[in-house]
Amino acid sequence: MLFRIARNRTGGEITHYDVYEIPVTRGMTVLDVLFKIQDEKDPTLSFRNSCRGAVCGSCAVLVNKMPMLACRTQVLRLRETKTDLTKFPALENTPSEWDPDAEILIEPLPNLSVLKDLVVDMTPFFNALKRMRLWTNPVEGDEPRRQSPDDRKLIDRYANCILCAICYGSCPVNARTTEYLGPAALAKAWRFYQGTRIEDRSRYLEAATISEGAPMCDLIMNCVRVCPKGVAPGGAIRRFKQVQWCSESNPLCRPSQPRSTTIQTKPACEVSHQSDVAIQSPLCEKPLQPAVESTEPDVQVQSCGVENIVNHVMMPKLIQSACHAEYPI
Ligand code: SF4
Ligand code: FES
Repeated sequence: MLFRIARNRTGGEITHYDVYEIPVTRGMTVLDVLFKIQDEKDPTLSFRNSCRGAVCGSCAVLVNKMPMLACRTQVLRLRETKTDLTKFPALENTPSEWDPDAEILIEPLPNLSVLKDLVVDMTPFFNALKRMRLWTNPVEGDEPRRQSPDDRKLIDRYANCILCAICYGSCPVNARTTEYLGPAALAKAWRFYQGTRIEDRSRYLEAATISEGAPMCDLIMNCVRVCPKGVAPGGAIRRFKQVQWCSESNPLCRPSQPRSTTIQTKPACEVSHQSDVAIQSPLCEKPLQPAVESTEPDVQVQSCGVENIVNHVMMPKLIQSACHAEYPI
């Protein structure tokens, strides 16, 4: 099988592509192929890896224009991998010599500058975590800080992040501006904001809702589609937007209750009406449709028709939001 690999010896942009022929056996991963090239064909080929088990997050690359972990991607299954992403130039522009039917294309992760070959500079990605101070300040004392299984469930999804930056590399907003904090940092901020053993949770809300944070996200949801650990940063960002909107603009919002959970199946962009006043989510970008009567007296619900990708893809569990209206996470 042929592999067309982006090369750059000095940093900056991709300068050229080298093609290598490697025999592929069942179960062989993209990372195995890179090792084989390095061992047998070209010892100068540079790429990152460590755990080889989808835990350290260091081997993220772009394969056939899809960001993925090299160690978790089997070469013979690549043809079955079909995920539609909203495109931006790095995901759209292909090298003119590339024959997609005959070659596997391997490139560095987009939205981060190249240091050498497939190794990118992760500094902007980690700087966002530092800027938001995404760590806890432990309280003095030896008392155990207990957490119930239900409280733990609130952060399970977000605590799974391995900081691979695949979401950052797939995000059209990160492609457009280096100012945006990025999906992973915002997902981590939500993890701390929901942490029941954490003091001063409001600082994570403040950090996530600055103009370069959740407000800058277009809710395109590429991050949800590509995350190898099912973290779904777009869901966290959506909830930050919702909490911010409720606290700033909506006089009918109830006091924040971000931790109380409930199961419900309403569509994403439902809008509640009470006493002739519509409570409309800022996340609904389409104009209101004619109202549909609900079974509850005095309350009508209507949908703006925007598909809830987060819920659709992987989240049956929904959260009772800070607002009167319920939104999925
Ligand atoms: S949220 Fe997912 S894609 Fe983004 S850094 Fe964490 S594990 Fe990687
Ligand atoms: S080598 Fe650690 S995630 Fe791939």
